[in-house]
Amino acid sequence: MKGLVIENKRLCFNDDLERPKPKTNEVLVKVICASVNPTDIDNVAGKYDLWLKLSGGYHKVRTGLEFSGVVVQGVGRFEEGDKVFGYVDLMKGQKTHQEYLCINPDCIALMPKNSDFEQAAALPLGSLTSLVALTEVGEVKQGTELLVNGASGGLGVYSLQLAKILGAHTAAIAGPGQESFLTGLGAKTVYNYKETKLESLSQTFDVILDLSNKRSFKEVKLILSAHGRFIPLEPNKHILSFFMNFLSSQKMKFLMVDKGNNEKLSQIAKWVEESKLKVFVDSVFSFADYEKAFLRMDEQGKRGRVVLKIAEDD
Ligand SMILES: NC(=O)c1ccc[n+]([C@@H]2O[C@H](COP(=O)([O-])OP(=O)(O)OC[C@H]3O[C@@H](n4cnc5c(N)ncnc54)[C@H](OP(=O)(O)O)[C@@H]3O)[C@@H](O)[C@H]2O)c1
Repeated sequence: MKGLVIENKRLCFNDDLERPKPKTNEVLVKVICASVNPTDIDNVAGKYDLWLKLSGGYHKVRTGLEFSGVVVQGVGRFEEGDKVFGYVDLMKGQKTHQEYLCINPDCIALMPKNSDFEQAAALPLGSLTSLVALTEVGEVKQGTELLVNGASGGLGVYSLQLAKILGAHTAAIAGPGQESFLTGLGAKTVYNYKETKLESLSQTFDVILDLSNKRSFKEVKLILSAHGRFIPLEPNKHILSFFMNFLSSQKMKFLMVDKGNNEKLSQIAKWVEESKLKVFVDSVFSFADYEKAFLRMDEQGKRGRVVLKIAEDD
């Protein structure tokens, strides 16, 4: 079986991996497409090695968090031949840059009927994380003033569309040349982070979602409403700032969506089928071109996800 392995902090192609065998409560899936996302770069650098080892997730293949594919051996509600998409367990789960993987059926759902494999692989992590961030952590509802910082990437394209479904008034911050793209997704105002300083915005926001991971609680407090919520996407970087929560009505909230959720993924698939949610694939690379896909991750101006075509659907 083919897959990507990490040797001396470099990704390498290996075509002699053992095909995983499902446990009684797992689905065996043939992976057709898988995305590349920022956590994969961290995993290549070994940033989470200790955590993966402690949680039993230090597998040979350690990159790839979301995928689309076909069930080879089903369990529960899934049967052979079903087209599914999913988000693996961040720590314990088998990762997706390999031809087959075993996964808990709670982490997958049937693909939207109107999506192809490339689109379905670009959907679960970004849309599910955005949904949880907005509804459960941010409690965004009709009329919420929302700011999405880093709005054109793998999460941002879904955050804007879901915020529109929820009835929020959304401002977006992104790189140059994204204005008409992001207003098309529901942003009322779009700022270019190369020209506009966050602190200079005259408006205040009820919720600020920082997908760029570049903002501190101290900085955003200036433009957060009196009882506003700041949601950084890498909460571990902000541990000390959590103590400021005791001293202020403005709150920093903890977000960690570390695996799929069948119910929420099924809702997301339904929104895609109803054309309420559009999927964005930035680019598609063959499995053999994985290095180019990872290089694309380092470039600015991506719209949505970078996808690897792992295998043919036959
Ligand atoms: N906590 C959780 O549960 C959870 C779950 C999933 C993901 N994450 C994390 O969420 C983060 C976002 O993921 P993603 O897939 O959306 O990443 P991404 O596709 O790389 O998007 C990041 C966006 O930030 C923009 N950006 C870069 N510098 C900026 C700046 N100074 N100001 C404003 N925007 C800036 C980028 O625009 P340009 O391309 O134009 O520079 C890009 O659109 C990652 O760190 C990921 O690890 C967290």
